[in-house]
Amino acid sequence: MVFAAVFAGGIGSRMGNSETPKQYLELGTKPVIIHTIEKFFINDKIDEILVLCPKAWIAHTQDLVKKHLPEGKKVTVIAGGASRNGTLENAIEYIEKNYETDENTVIVTHDAVRPFLTHRIIEENVAAALEYGACDTVIPATDTIVESADGKIISSIPDRSKMYQGQTPQSFRLKELARVLSSLTDDEKAILTDACKIFSIKNKAVYMVEGEVFNIKITYPYDLKVAHTLLKGKESDD
Ligand code: CTP
Repeated sequence: MVFAAVFAGGIGSRMGNSETPKQYLELGTKPVIIHTIEKFFINDKIDEILVLCPKAWIAHTQDLVKKHLPEGKKVTVIAGGASRNGTLENAIEYIEKNYETDENTVIVTHDAVRPFLTHRIIEENVAAALEYGACDTVIPATDTIVESADGKIISSIPDRSKMYQGQTPQSFRLKELARVLSSLTDDEKAILTDACKIFSIKNKAVYMVEGEVFNIKITYPYDLKVAHTLLKGKESDD
């Protein structure tokens, strides 16, 4: 079975002082989160969808799902965690409690605020998770990446041809992910905020699926403006 876990548990502090977390802001005719859920809803590699959001937003999210999505695939809304890792743990715990899982159970985790993912990306994630156990979606870095330990002086400039920018989805064989997470100490959990980094640190292969430049994450108000432009461009392509 393949689950999509849509991560919407954040409050979007970098978007400014809006009362409404960015995943609920309107993009065209519907909220950002609905664009994202729809991608999984209509993809036939995905069996069920889990949406993890702030506790206070569960009822609203359920209403949005009812309003915008037809009957069909099961979409379950539950509370996310205090951190992104906490949200991931809640997703795993919910699936393990409510379903029979096996070594072929896959979880495709995706940021609610990346509404432009494609069906190719979803499908390559599912295939790579099954083949390698874990995968990340990345694009080659276009800017030179500069590293600085103190935020003032450059400590290194890695070779750009070997640098990539991480996007989502990140996808895993669920049981393997649960095993790796449970092997971490609390200190490791506090530092390791990225599930693929956890795999990589534990010397487990993480396959790279090619992302898209337009698979942007809405982080700042500027990104929402870009998202509106991208949406208009896509509508005129259709
Ligand atoms: N996320 C989550 N649970 C958390 C924190 C973040 O599910 N406890 C989700 C966000 O809702 C978002 C995705 O992870 O869809 C990417 O995180 P980010 O862009 O950092 O979102 P926020 O934490 O909401 O933003 P900010 O850091 O500006 O507060």
